[in-house]
Amino acid sequence: MRLIFLLSLSAISTAVYSAPSILQNRDVSSDELYQFKFWVQYAAAAYCYDDYTAKFGNSVSCSDDFCPQVEATGAKIVYAFSNTTSTDTAGYIARDDTNQVIILAFRGSYSARNWIADIEFPYTDSGLCDGCEAELGFWSSWIKVRDPVSSILNKTVNAYPDYELVVTGHSLGAGIATLAAADLRGSGHPSVTLFAFASPRVANPALADYITAQKNNYRFTHINDPVPKLPLLAMGYVHVSPEYYITSPNNVTVTAGDIEVLEGEVNWEGNTGTGAPSLTDFPAHHWYFEEADGCKGSELPWKI
Ligand SMILES: *[C@@H]1O[C@H](CO)[C@@H](O)[C@H](O)[C@H]1NC(C)=O
Ligand SMILES: *[C@@H]1O[C@H](CO)[C@@H](O)[C@H](O)[C@H]1NC(C)=O
Ligand SMILES: *[C@@H]1O[C@H](CO)[C@@H](O)[C@H](O)[C@H]1NC(C)=O
Repeated sequence: MRLIFLLSLSAISTAVYSAPSILQNRDVSSDELYQFKFWVQYAAAAYCYDDYTAKFGNSVSCSDDFCPQVEATGAKIVYAFSNTTSTDTAGYIARDDTNQVIILAFRGSYSARNWIADIEFPYTDSGLCDGCEAELGFWSSWIKVRDPVSSILNKTVNAYPDYELVVTGHSLGAGIATLAAADLRGSGHPSVTLFAFASPRVANPALADYITAQKNNYRFTHINDPVPKLPLLAMGYVHVSPEYYITSPNNVTVTAGDIEVLEGEVNWEGNTGTGAPSLTDFPAHHWYFEEADGCKGSELPWKI
């Protein structure tokens, strides 16, 4: 079974914005929903120790049923990375022959709770375009693995030239994934598709515009999740557009009608409009179609 997600998604998103108002609460089709529930499993797998420490050729797998559909594809790890830096960059590259896709997935940090207490969030020049400033921590995390990751991606793409390229992650992993996708699109892989679940803001308006214009960005938020509210707008950070805003409660099966597609880098009708970031809202951070970070273990004690 080949998921024709790229074709179907682009066709559908064009239709969505011109759809009659009767469809306003059904921005997402059941086919898209199916895709989203599939791709989040690759992000979830990045939390599994056995995946981010895998050897070449291991199958992607998750404990406790966090990625059953991915396991069913028989996807194989091409390269895994972890403990490479103090900035906690970890993840894997996998090859999914069933769907003919190469996946680059980043693990969210074990320290998301500590991260949201940070007040600095300095910028750095990403060099991706004029005036394009990225959040320093996420950009550094990507830079630390960029050379090996891009060179292995290049080799894999050359060996499988018909395969699509997907970059994904949840939480801080989604922040890194967003910048990695932007960089890879600008360096030989223009059609990368990004699935970013619960991403923080990572860019100033110039960089967010640049990434938005690259297209193929599926950025998800969930009700009052505090992580996508940071760094604050007041610090000059904005999001990549559009926002796929999941409006249903924690631990409940998400239906297509629960997702609103919001255009814009600041959406007050979306996650941004649900109040100031609060630690008590953290449960919403875990639930993106499933318990997206459920596979994380206790291997990194200093990160908790
Ligand atoms: C990362 O480092 C910690 C502490 O040294 C160690 O316990 C853990 O096994 C390492 N993880 C990997 C994937 O190498
Ligand atoms: C990967 O390939 C692209 C062109 O397809 C090139 O621009 C880029 O420098 C290559 N990266 C590495 C690390 O080899
Ligand atoms: C949701 O599930 C998680 C993990 O099983 C659990 O810790 C949490 O209490 C649940 N929350 C609600 C609102 O049921």
